[in-house]
Amino acid sequence: MTLLIRVSRQIQRKSLQSTSLNRLFSDSSALRKGPECTDECKWLCGSSEEILSAVRGQVEVRQNFISEEEENALFKEVEAGLRKKRYEFDHWDDAIHGYRETERLQWGATSESILRRVRTVAFPEGSPLLGPVHVLDLDKEGYIKPHIDSVKFCGSTIAGLSLLSDSIMRLVPENNSTDWVDLLLSRRSLYILRDDARFKFTHEILKEEESFFSGQKVPRHRRISVICRNLPV
Ligand code: OGA
Ligand code: MN
Repeated sequence: MTLLIRVSRQIQRKSLQSTSLNRLFSDSSALRKGPECTDECKWLCGSSEEILSAVRGQVEVRQNFISEEEENALFKEVEAGLRKKRYEFDHWDDAIHGYRETERLQWGATSESILRRVRTVAFPEGSPLLGPVHVLDLDKEGYIKPHIDSVKFCGSTIAGLSLLSDSIMRLVPENNSTDWVDLLLSRRSLYILRDDARFKFTHEILKEEESFFSGQKVPRHRRISVICRNLPV
């Protein structure tokens, strides 16, 4: 899976000042916390209504997709493999900082039934999937820089479970780096990126210092993601 990361198109961009970001978040939360705030406001916010409309239907966060027991079962299963590896911090050209990773083809019964649920809700019926599931362990200090997953190796849909910690995934249009959309990936949630949100936006996981949602601090701890992808058609 390192290959996927290596071939991800990595996009370096000067990050916005955190103070101005916080102000933007606060403004947007003020706009979106009225009586019209739907379930979506709990996990989606952005720099404008237009950008939110552009991704609606192509991004989804299902909060509490797995139970604490299921999180535990997945964690136990991946931890044994991860523990043997060291966190990588110093590869300056990597898209990911402070991580270790593994991939897994065969799963125990509990994990397999969770992954079956993920596949059912996330992928179009009959869509051929990438066999191994990618497991990415981010240290508390770890983060993922803006990138687009390889279009050569991965298809239209990316679906990830978040274990152990909440985090913020930021999407930025590839051709306009002033707009942004933030997804609150709560612990035990499932996120899904599809089509344009996957191909035309970079995605990243914010570092601890930048981890805010609607002006609210979202503390980052160690975070493990379990990611399913489909194959290009
Ligand atoms: C990746 C990636 C997101 C996550 O590995 O390409 O974007 O949820 N991961 O860990
Ligand atoms: Mn990615």
